[in-house]
Amino acid sequence: MYLRDVTPDDVDAYVRMRCDPVMMKDLGGPLPRDGMRDKVRRDAAEAAAGTSWIKMIVPDPGTPEVVAGNVCIWAHDEGGEPVSEIGWMVLPEFQGRGLGRLATRTLLEQARDEDRWGDIHAFPATANGPSNGICRSLGFRLLGEIDVDFADRVIHSNHWVITPASDLAP
Ligand SMILES: CC(C)(COP(=O)(O)OP(=O)(O)OC[C@H]1O[C@@H](n2cnc3c(N)ncnc32)[C@H](O)[C@@H]1OP(=O)(O)O)[C@@H](O)C(=O)NCCC(=O)NCCS
Repeated sequence: MYLRDVTPDDVDAYVRMRCDPVMMKDLGGPLPRDGMRDKVRRDAAEAAAGTSWIKMIVPDPGTPEVVAGNVCIWAHDEGGEPVSEIGWMVLPEFQGRGLGRLATRTLLEQARDEDRWGDIHAFPATANGPSNGICRSLGFRLLGEIDVDFADRVIHSNHWVITPASDLAP
């Protein structure tokens, strides 16, 4: 497995991740296809500029055109405070093989090694078993429950945080 920056050519993977009712079950339901080309273009520009880390998961280096999902770290403003957040998605045919956990761990190791992003927060829906499993097993600390906005929806979530330099499980 390796991670690479998203490019404008990743529209198909975005549509499969973000416009699918099963993939988006815990994220408030599928998003419209209409905005996806623009969303990928904006994400690719941010990744190329280094303002956000938006990575596609390539499961097999022998077939670099096959993408299994993505993992991202970005910063946003929360009541005047900068907050770093991580999120991840793995397509159905690649789920349940440890890829989500490995990809998330790989990006957190990069954050630790480059000493970037500070504490990193994650907000999986309370009902999202695998995502909460990723947080628990990588060494995130559970701060409590919180309602978060995602793409204009409100998701009842767990609030996890990790300090990669000290918390990342071996
Ligand atoms: C969440 C998601 C990324 C998980 O990806 P994955 O590659 O299937 O996950 P993994 O195989 O790495 O498993 C992650 C952990 O969850 C555990 N797990 C798997 N299914 C589980 C379930 N139903 N309930 C509880 N834990 C579960 C695994 O055992 C593993 O824990 P471990 O590391 O302690 O063994 C994937 O299901 C997904 O993309 N779902 C749809 C989109 C989404 O919800 N994204 C996350 C938004 S926060």
